[in-house]
Amino acid sequence: MHLDSVESAGGRLGAVLSAPRSGAVALGPHGPWLVTTPALARRVLTEPDRFDFPGDVSRSGDLSASRGETRSGHVVLPPLTPAEVARGREVLETEWHSAIAEHDRTAPGTPYDATVLLRRPVARSTVAAVLVTDVPTRDRVADLTLAWIDALAPVISARRPPGRWSRARRAERDARFALDDALRAVPDLATPPEQVATMLAAGVQVPIAAGAWLLAWLAAHPADTAEDPDRDPLHAVWETLRLTPPTWVTARITTEPVDLAGTEVPAGRVVLVSPLLLGRLPELVPGDPDALAGFDPSRWTDGSHRPGAWLPFGAGPHACPGRTLGLAQLVHLATWAGRHRLGLAGHVGIDQSRGIAPLPCLLTIDDAVDDAGRGGSL
Ligand code: HEM
Repeated sequence: MHLDSVESAGGRLGAVLSAPRSGAVALGPHGPWLVTTPALARRVLTEPDRFDFPGDVSRSGDLSASRGETRSGHVVLPPLTPAEVARGREVLETEWHSAIAEHDRTAPGTPYDATVLLRRPVARSTVAAVLVTDVPTRDRVADLTLAWIDALAPVISARRPPGRWSRARRAERDARFALDDALRAVPDLATPPEQVATMLAAGVQVPIAAGAWLLAWLAAHPADTAEDPDRDPLHAVWETLRLTPPTWVTARITTEPVDLAGTEVPAGRVVLVSPLLLGRLPELVPGDPDALAGFDPSRWTDGSHRPGAWLPFGAGPHACPGRTLGLAQLVHLATWAGRHRLGLAGHVGIDQSRGIAPLPCLLTIDDAVDDAGRGGSL
């Protein structure tokens, strides 16, 4: 049982990781260009006048509704408030525990599929953070968000953008309208429904993938057999977001000719920033430079490097507004995992169709292992 290595993956992932780390590298005759230094990555993400945010759903993942007032035509979404994050965190805790309990009741003895188990807890948690509403509405909006994300998948992963009237587009539109209708019915909605839908789609799909990666890494590297028996849940979270950031690459479009450390890029071309690649740069990550592809949460204990410098939540005006909630959701999962004995129940592959996600992600979960008398608890 093992986790496929990102290092040996093919496709776009392999091309990005094996690119020379020389500043800005053209991956094809007309791009895209990949920036490979932290300084250039920061520049691309924080100069929106020169590096525009793409609005095309087939390129930018789930953010199809991100359009509005800014120069580039995109709304800049304010970060979630501490009160919103607290609401979301609380719901994740309860819902994760009931998802595990339901699995134990309905399918005892079978492996836990992390990607499936995380769907409702994450969706309900994010909806609870973004909307103030009653529980039945919260759960309905959560299910409609999941349905929209599922309908978006074939549109995003298609090699060529599906036609406007294709079955995939129509299914996606129907799912989207159903979500919009449900949001319009929410009393006192302070934000336009399209903007809420964007928050929800981005805030559900990515944390599900991140949570599944986290559980997969923890199952493959149990703390009691590793060097750090007192593993800090937050360190495990950062290590997961370093090795397998779900949004492993993000794109911008040049609005004018730009000079990227001596490389000329014409206007209208795609420039890529990859948190996955940046997370493997020795200047950003503590520890043996030859062992940066390994999962070792204890590398973050010495405090010599700032976690997150490889931009797993982006940077600049389009940085993740749900970052604090995403971290809180993941820290809860890591804390819970620390009280159980997790194992991999099968080989874990890498789904590259939308960001990266572990697929399948089948786990065994044994009773609580902490010594606080919580044996057998969830
Ligand atoms: C571990 C969890 C998460 C990770 C790793 C993550 C990562 C990211 C990254 C890298 C971006 C920037 C994309 C770019 O520059 O093109 C982003 C944007 C975004 N994220 Fe997150 N995110 C997470 C959780 C969340 C949550 C919980 C929410 C909402 C509640 C959320 C909502 C958004 C939205 C709306 C954007 C688009 C911002 C814009 O276009 O201005 N994310 N996220």
